[in-house]
This record gives sequence, structure tokens and C-alpha cells, in this order.
Amino acid sequence: MTTTTEKAVNPQADKAGTPLLEVRDLHVEFRTRDGVAKAVNGVNYSVSAGETLAVLGESGSGKSVTAQAIMGILDSPPGFVTQGEINFKGRDLLKLSEKERRKIRGAKMAMIFQDALSSLNPVLTVGYQLGEMFRVHQGMSRRDAKAKAIELMDRVRIPAARERVNDYPHQFSGGMRQRIMIAMALALEPDLIIADEPTTALDVTVQAQVMDLLAELQREFHMGLILITHDLGVVADVADKIAVMYAGRIVETAPVRELYKQPAHPYTRGLLDSIPRLDQKGEELYAIKGLPPNLLRIPSGCAFNPRCPMAQDVCRTDIPVLHPVTDSRGSACHFWKETLDG
Ligand SMILES: Nc1ncnc2c1ncn2[C@@H]1O[C@H](COP(=O)(O)OP(=O)(O)O)[C@@H](O)[C@H]1O
Ligand code: SF4
Ligand SMILES: [Mg+2]
Repeated sequence: MTTTTEKAVNPQADKAGTPLLEVRDLHVEFRTRDGVAKAVNGVNYSVSAGETLAVLGESGSGKSVTAQAIMGILDSPPGFVTQGEINFKGRDLLKLSEKERRKIRGAKMAMIFQDALSSLNPVLTVGYQLGEMFRVHQGMSRRDAKAKAIELMDRVRIPAARERVNDYPHQFSGGMRQRIMIAMALALEPDLIIADEPTTALDVTVQAQVMDLLAELQREFHMGLILITHDLGVVADVADKIAVMYAGRIVETAPVRELYKQPAHPYTRGLLDSIPRLDQKGEELYAIKGLPPNLLRIPSGCAFNPRCPMAQDVCRTDIPVLHPVTDSRGSACHFWKETLDG
């Protein structure tokens, strides 16, 4: 882990404001027996080195599918990228061969999933699985790879790493397993980590510890981090900016504090009002009415209109584009001004 400072001093990709990753007008559809499910419908987002982007939205909004398209692990068929660009360190990943993409995966970008138990191999020790990263990608000897594994386990603060390196995944608690997943992702010092609901399966105190660890490592390694979550509460302290997704589109994007203080989209407002607050005990929690749309039949106009308390006629006919609210904010709502003022 000696290149950390080099990276911090010389971040290749964020010089001159060029983001590390820039997703442009990405479209993904699933061609199923029941029809075509439009899962991602023109997503734009970017993340720079040393920056954390939280991607927020209810289940089914296309957060994971977007991540899978970036990583090149989309379930295809039935999933297909039909349009767009995924620019990573100046190259459009969609134009690369599978072989070239495989080289980038793991080494340059890594992913952390919600369920560590099903991502780890139950019959191999964690030391072996961590070491494999170095044996396969860097041709390291078994012995050196094991030493690296111990170093990584220390790094993610797994107590007694030297003794535990020969343990199997089921011998660790959920929180510790998630630390092992983080260690695996970090192993080759990637430029970008995508964490997909990394703490959803953990209880609340462990959630906070794992999130803090991830944030700390992200800063130290000066990585770009995309943090996918359905829980706005989880990312408040660690994200720089937020992209809110609904029905496969970004409906609002803003620096995290501004979004909390003053949302510019009724959907974001609904999500914020759904967070339990300690000072409002006993009051009924506002939850957004209804369900996210069936992606085989997305409503015309604004996809949120059947659930939106502010919907007008225009919302049922015209798709709102992402209007610039300020230099660093955007809202895809015909009535963003009114929302911001309300
Ligand atoms: N393997 C698949 N086959 C068919 N449809 C899929 C598949 N994976 C995802 N989808 C569709 O894409 C939608 C978005 O999924 P996803 O990105 O996983 O949502 P989330 O925002 O919860 O991560 C799903 O609701 C589903 O309609
Ligand atoms: S465009 Fe209309 S329906 Fe959509 S969020 Fe704005 S007010 Fe609501
Ligand atoms: Mg998901």
C-alpha cells in the first residue's frame, strides 16, 4: 500500500476537472418474455478521484443495473446497454473488448455487494481468497500473498488478523465479513469502488462502523466512491453529492448538504420526509404514497406523476429534463422552483 500518497498527489483523472468516471445518457433494457423492461433510461452521473457520490432511490429504480453496466457484469441476456457512454479515465468502457474490461475489473474498479456471505467462497479461507487477488493479478507467491492478506485484514481492522487469516467466511460476523469484502475490493488499490448497499444487511451500529471505515479508506486512498443505497440516513455523513434515481432516471442531483436543506424535487422531498427523526417521536411518518412504476409500462410524462402531490396536467404529458437549479444542482421536475420554495 505504498502508492497511496502518490495517488493523492498525482490523481491522473481529476486534473483539469475531468472526472474519473462519467456516465453519459446510459440506457439499459431487459428483454424478457413479458416485454422490454426499461431499467435505465438516460442516466448521467460522474465521480472524481477522492469524491463520494451517493446514488439514492427506492428498490427497483435502476441503481444496481447502472452499476453492473459500469462494471461490465450486466446479466446479458436478458440485459442490454442500448445507448450511452461510460467514460473511465478517458476511455469509453462500452467500446472495449471483454478481455480489456476484465483487466480493468478488480484492478482499476472494484465492487462491494450487500451480501458478503454469498460473494465469498464458503470452502476457502478468507486468507486464501484475499491472497488470490495478488497471486492471480500480480503473480505473487503463496507466502507473500498471505502476508498481504494479513496486512489487508489489519487495514480493515479485523482483530487478530494473523490468527484469523486461516478462518472460513462463516466463522466471521456479518460486519467482519463485510470488512473482508472491503479488503478484497481495496486489494489492488483501484481508482474507483462501487459499493452497492454495503451495509443494508447489518444492524444499525455495525452499519455506522462499516460506513465510517469505508469513508476513511476512500479518503486515504483518494479513490472515487459510488455508494448505492435506498437509505438517505446512511449516506448523509459520508457523501459529497447525491444523485436521486427514479424509474431509471436521475431526478435530482446536488451536493449532499444542499439537498438535505432544500430538495428541488418532490420525490426527494418525500424520501427526506420518510426518514425517522428522533425529535418527532410519535408523529406519523410521511411515506411516499403508492409504488414505483412497472418498468414494462412507465407512465407517460414524469414517471413520478401518479404518486406526486404536486402533479399538474403537464406532468402527465411532458417528460421533465434535468434543469440546472444552480451550477452544482439539477432537478428533473417541471415545478422545481415551487418545490425549492415550498
Ligand atoms: N436479471 C434481470 N432480469 C430482468 N430484469 C431485471 C434484471 N435485473 C434487473 N432487472 C430490472 O431492472 C430493474 C431495476 O433493478 P435494479 O437496478 O436492481 O434496482 P435497484 O435500484 O433496486 O438496485 C428491476 O426492477 C427489474 O425490472
Ligand atoms: S414533474 Fe410534476 S409529477 Fe413530476 S415531480 Fe415534478 S411536479 Fe411531480
Ligand atoms: Mg440494488
